[in-house]
Amino acid sequence: MSTVVVHPIHRAVRFYEAPIGKKAVMAATGVILVGYVFAHLLGNLQIYSSDAQQINRYAAFLHNPANAVALWAARSALLAAVVLHIVAATQLWLQNRAARPQGYVKKKDVPASYAARTMVWSGPIVAAFIVFHIMHLTMGSVLPVRDIGLNPNTPDVRWNVIAGFQNPAVAGFYIFAMILLCMHLYHGIWSLFQSLGVNHPRYTPWIQKASAALAILVAVGNCSIPIAVLSGLLTY
Ligand code: HEM
Repeated sequence: MSTVVVHPIHRAVRFYEAPIGKKAVMAATGVILVGYVFAHLLGNLQIYSSDAQQINRYAAFLHNPANAVALWAARSALLAAVVLHIVAATQLWLQNRAARPQGYVKKKDVPASYAARTMVWSGPIVAAFIVFHIMHLTMGSVLPVRDIGLNPNTPDVRWNVIAGFQNPAVAGFYIFAMILLCMHLYHGIWSLFQSLGVNHPRYTPWIQKASAALAILVAVGNCSIPIAVLSGLLTY
């Protein structure tokens, strides 16, 4: 009798080829991205500190050459998570579309909420926002940015953010992107639980409420910054 040994790599590839494999990749990378968005929100909210230099000191700490390895490791992990999330989402979308029978009109099973239907375009717009955002505040290629000149790269984050949001078009784009991010996070977080098989009439409504609360928290926290600048409450 001969036994067929399936190599673990082949098993992983076969798992990924099925929709559940792509959903697992989206869920795992989604957890990393949600974690980053929360950590980043906590960093951003330091702009409200009574110590005006607090957010700049935080940025100087992140950019300190002594932390370069950790910073680049985190950036690489984040970039890999973004790429895998987008690739799995696109493949899943194409797979679902190919499997959809002709004349198929309305989907009644999984959450057909507004947020669910907008995933397909809220995702690409949030991705475009991230590219614009990095060009704006990290690379300084959209608007002029300042440096406080402590070590080779210590951005004057407080000035860069406030000067950027004094431009209503920039502030408006950020607010628009945050609203889309909110819908994307709401649907994404609760779909993650569905992918993990957590689907119970008792818990699902709570999971939906918790997902909405987290998504709204991120949107309100981030939107408050351009709004505070536009209304003159936050000045340099
Ligand atoms: C009003 C909202 C936001 C503000 C004020 C803000 C602020 C900033 C600032 C100042 C930087 C540059 C930091 C530095 O060079 O030290 C930055 C980088 C970045 N932000 Fe945001 N951010 C906001 C929202 C977001 C959101 C919603 C996302 C993701 C969906 C995001 C993703 C990133 C990424 C990926 C970087 C690059 C990090 C790096 O250079 O390593 N940001 N943000």
